[in-house]
Amino acid sequence: MKKIGLFYNFDTNKTSKIAERIKKAFEEQSDYEIVSVDVDENMTEEQFMQFDHLLLGAATWMDGELPYYWDEFVPAMEDLDMKGKHIAIFGLGDQNNGRENFQDAIGLLAYLLEDRGAELYGFTSTEGYTFERSYGVRGNQFLGLSIDLENQAALTDERVTSWVKQLLEEKF
Ligand SMILES: Cc1cc2nc3c(=O)[nH]c(=O)nc-3n(C[C@H](O)[C@H](O)[C@H](O)COP(=O)(O)O)c2cc1C
Repeated sequence: MKKIGLFYNFDTNKTSKIAERIKKAFEEQSDYEIVSVDVDENMTEEQFMQFDHLLLGAATWMDGELPYYWDEFVPAMEDLDMKGKHIAIFGLGDQNNGRENFQDAIGLLAYLLEDRGAELYGFTSTEGYTFERSYGVRGNQFLGLSIDLENQAALTDERVTSWVKQLLEEKF
């Protein structure tokens, strides 16, 4: 059975809620084992590297920054060899108040890990979102799943379900 690491900070409210929905969607659509890992100051490189398939959750904070719990892990990630690792990122952002930096956290994690050899999965269209600029976009796609609970909460369930279906089709 395929084992997937689901990485997010357990103390968050919104990111945790989305992570739990993603876990549920995987359980409904596959027989993969989803193992949740708390991204906090105690997370080790060994915990991160024990999986070949990783789902990473990050909200964008403060003018396009990673949340502190990911930021603290960046120096460790900079030294990792991610060849052979499959990564799919889900981001939370606010396209109204964060329109200049919408979902930048997706891009910050994506480029960091891609530069170290990881393969990225689960890109999604920017259609249906309104914003000025995003570091999380390449071409006309987010480098992961883009969730906006502030402005488009009603679309969330469908976005999560179809993203998980897409990941299964992409053989993430
Ligand atoms: C102080 C603050 C700054 C934010 N800055 C951005 C931003 O630059 N870009 C963006 O897309 N969203 C931004 N957001 C929106 C958050 O990403 C969004 O509210 C998210 O759902 C928070 O998830 P969390 O509570 O799990 O951390 C910001 C929110 C707050 C409160």
